[in-house]
Amino acid sequence: MEPQDKIVILDFGSQYTHLLARRVRQLNVFSEILSPTAPSEELKAAKGIILSGGPESVYSDTAVAYNPELFSLGVPILGLCYGQQLIAHHLKGKVEPGKVKEYGTATLSILKGGLFKGVPKNFTVWMSHGDKVKKLPKGFAAFASTPDCEFAAIGDDEKGIYGLQFHPEVTHTQFGMKILENFVVKICGAMREWNMEQYLNQKIHEIREEAGDKNVFLLLSGGVDSTVCLALLDRALGSDRIHALHVDTGFMRKSESKIVKEELEKLGIREVNVIDASEKFFGALEGVFDPEEKRNIIGRLFVDIALEELNNMDFEIDTWLIGQGTIYPDTIETGGTAHAKKIKTHHNRAPIIMEMIEKGWVIEPLNQLYKDEVRELGRLLGLPQGLVDRHPFPGPGLAIRILCSEGVDETDEKLKKKVKGIALEEGYRAKLLPVKAVGVQGDNRTYSNAVLVEGELNYERLEAISTRITNSFSEVNRVVFLLEPQKVKKLELKKAYLTRERTAKLQEADAIAMRVLEQKGIGANVWQFPVVLMPVDFNGVGEGIVLRPVYSKEAMTAKFAKLGPSILEDMVAQIMKIDGIGAVMLDITHKPPATIEWE
Ligand code: XMP
Repeated sequence: MEPQDKIVILDFGSQYTHLLARRVRQLNVFSEILSPTAPSEELKAAKGIILSGGPESVYSDTAVAYNPELFSLGVPILGLCYGQQLIAHHLKGKVEPGKVKEYGTATLSILKGGLFKGVPKNFTVWMSHGDKVKKLPKGFAAFASTPDCEFAAIGDDEKGIYGLQFHPEVTHTQFGMKILENFVVKICGAMREWNMEQYLNQKIHEIREEAGDKNVFLLLSGGVDSTVCLALLDRALGSDRIHALHVDTGFMRKSESKIVKEELEKLGIREVNVIDASEKFFGALEGVFDPEEKRNIIGRLFVDIALEELNNMDFEIDTWLIGQGTIYPDTIETGGTAHAKKIKTHHNRAPIIMEMIEKGWVIEPLNQLYKDEVRELGRLLGLPQGLVDRHPFPGPGLAIRILCSEGVDETDEKLKKKVKGIALEEGYRAKLLPVKAVGVQGDNRTYSNAVLVEGELNYERLEAISTRITNSFSEVNRVVFLLEPQKVKKLELKKAYLTRERTAKLQEADAIAMRVLEQKGIGANVWQFPVVLMPVDFNGVGEGIVLRPVYSKEAMTAKFAKLGPSILEDMVAQIMKIDGIGAVMLDITHKPPATIEWE
């Protein structure tokens, strides 16, 4: 069933391993990520092997274990960063800590080699390394260098083994795709036959194998991922073997649960079971304000309710698997791969789910894909465009868009003054807001203050001030711009938790934002558009709403979306009419330093 030609990527722990696999698939060649200890039999079946980068040193005690036979199988090898150093180390060259550590861009000068066919003599590459190859193994030659790295590319044509100290898989490296293509297609001779249709067939085959005789109990949030997952499972196993459960937590968009059920039934997918569990969720979240605590409670309750439902169905774990529409970024952001750090616990990565995954109870057929790949798969499965192109919606729903607080304002007076000062230099007024939001900086999670700026809606200037503020103060990871009212004279942090009343308020504001977006026909330009409720009273009128439209490709990075003034005006005018809303703001922070969601 598998396509004949494949490239195997051995994962030594780089943040980019998965991106590498994706790049190879973009070349229309099937790729698979394996452990460096994968048996020779498995490696021999590949047209080529790529050794990923990794955070360790090849000569340290903590170096990653690998199958040493991989170098003598006759399969072409390309080592990247750590991978290159491993080649040099294993084949008796020398690797040591570099005098100058290289991070960021460098200019590469090509000396020779088939890896560089069709690329210019000099171009920019992206480096991130401390160690470097000091002496080449026998038979190897330098193929390219940078001012700080003599062996930026090395190789031995006879053995078909190559190494690059830089990262061709990241977009900051020019001609990176061309270099990978030269390796995969020219050097390995892989046929460019792979496409999403094949992936679909292969996945259907794998799902049938993995499920065996078992049925699948699918937790359906109703978002794009779980909907595509349901359609895929339905295609692989047939409706009779799938039981789809949609838990209405009370934190869905206005009328969303109803719409999801109807849309899916229209597709001919067997009845979707909807449970209204909102009472339980509001109960369990009473008095909770910490974002991670919220996420964990929601994740746990989801599972409890699902298990309860399974018990009602005389469920036996020997005959059922639990299905989830987890996609790749969910895993990496929760710190789910070898060396990645935890940014936030995605609901489908709650500890109890992780336990079930370890026991082999869970099936996640989309967990290798990025969002745009999931959408492509959805279209192939015949799902309507409107359903597949919907904005992503997080599993915990509006619960992580309703910021909560104990009402204790801990903002630092000195910081307040400094923030004001910097904003004034840029011609804006600024206030430190007494609320915190989650961010991601240097691959780590932050939980820091937001700043409000007031002044002219000029995106160029706002982008500059937002970057300046977040770069100047480690205590700030988010900047919002005041749309309405003209001026904030008084703001006060309120004690506020997850209640039906606040949820209804946010549902209303969210529905308005989505409606205007759709009416103006720009929904497809914006990748996602969270609307957030802030437990702060503005001018004694009511709580604040933050609009968070973003452009993104894979959710790993994002830019704030620069919506036209008339669209914003339209949204603001309607949102300000909601009872208990005192201000509307626009989030003007990129990811990083912020994340897309506030929690
Ligand atoms: P952040 O906020 O980390 O979000 O920039 C990246 C993307 O993931 C979505 N998201 C989630 N999706 N369960 C999900 O299914 C979750 O718990 C969750 N948290 C964040 C978020 O909406 C964005 O698209």
